[in-house]
Amino acid sequence: MPQGPFSEELIGRLKSAQRVAALTGAGISAESGVPTFRGQDGLWKRFRPEELANFDAFLRNPSLVWEWYQYRRRIIREVRPNPGHAALAQLEGLVPDFAVITQNVDGLHQRAGSRKVIELHGNIHRNRCIQCGKVVEDLEWEGDELPHCRCGGLLRPDVVWFGELLPEEALAQAYLYTRTSDVFLTIGTSAVVQPAASLPLEAKEYGAYVVEVNIESTPITPWVDEHVRGRAGELLPKLVEALARSKREGR
Ligand code: OAD
Repeated sequence: MPQGPFSEELIGRLKSAQRVAALTGAGISAESGVPTFRGQDGLWKRFRPEELANFDAFLRNPSLVWEWYQYRRRIIREVRPNPGHAALAQLEGLVPDFAVITQNVDGLHQRAGSRKVIELHGNIHRNRCIQCGKVVEDLEWEGDELPHCRCGGLLRPDVVWFGELLPEEALAQAYLYTRTSDVFLTIGTSAVVQPAASLPLEAKEYGAYVVEVNIESTPITPWVDEHVRGRAGELLPKLVEALARSKREGR
């Protein structure tokens, strides 16, 4: 009999797994107070991605795009990781090789203590020069003037916008974990933005046991091995507890 929302099958597989990956999306940060993109209160209901999250829009109106990113940075600075992030950080200690593959740019996994975090869409706290490509961290800037690099080029947030390629090294790492993991968790993502959306199905093709944690169904729900419905911040600590208990008891 399962002792919680997750199956004995999953706990058993996690226990014997050599490698596990967790793909996360905006849903895992929702309980920290970071707005998601889609759904009723999603950012894309109030803001137009084509005006804010692509390079042409940035060149057309950098001030507007910077305003939007400063707004989101302020939200992210004020929030804290939630028990869902913390549980994934703990999971890293319970599995020989564990990676978080995240679409989030908020850095909350790292703040919760996860060490192996593959950021597919960049990081909102970093900046990059559109001219020389130099990465600039810790930019304290709130003023009216646009931030510039020493070379004179305009700085942009170091995140992936629509129509842009994902960072090569992160993508390679993501595919490696997708293709070699024994268990693949997909958590709080609507599974509609490629290529991240295809990773759970690819993991399944390569033999992983795929588990989805979400408050609702997604396009991949019919294909996963286990769909567990509910909030990540409530469910993931239960998963970690069940695994830790099972390991303690040697079951
Ligand atoms: P979305 O906003 O598309 O989806 C969030 C998902 O989280 C939905 O499926 C919700 O049902 C689920 N969810 C919400 N609260 C949850 C909770 N407490 N526990 C579990 N699940 C919950 O966010 P992403 O899938 O991350 O890209 O979006 C993917 C990409 O689209 C983003 O990285 C961003 C966006 O455009 C770029 O900016 C390039």
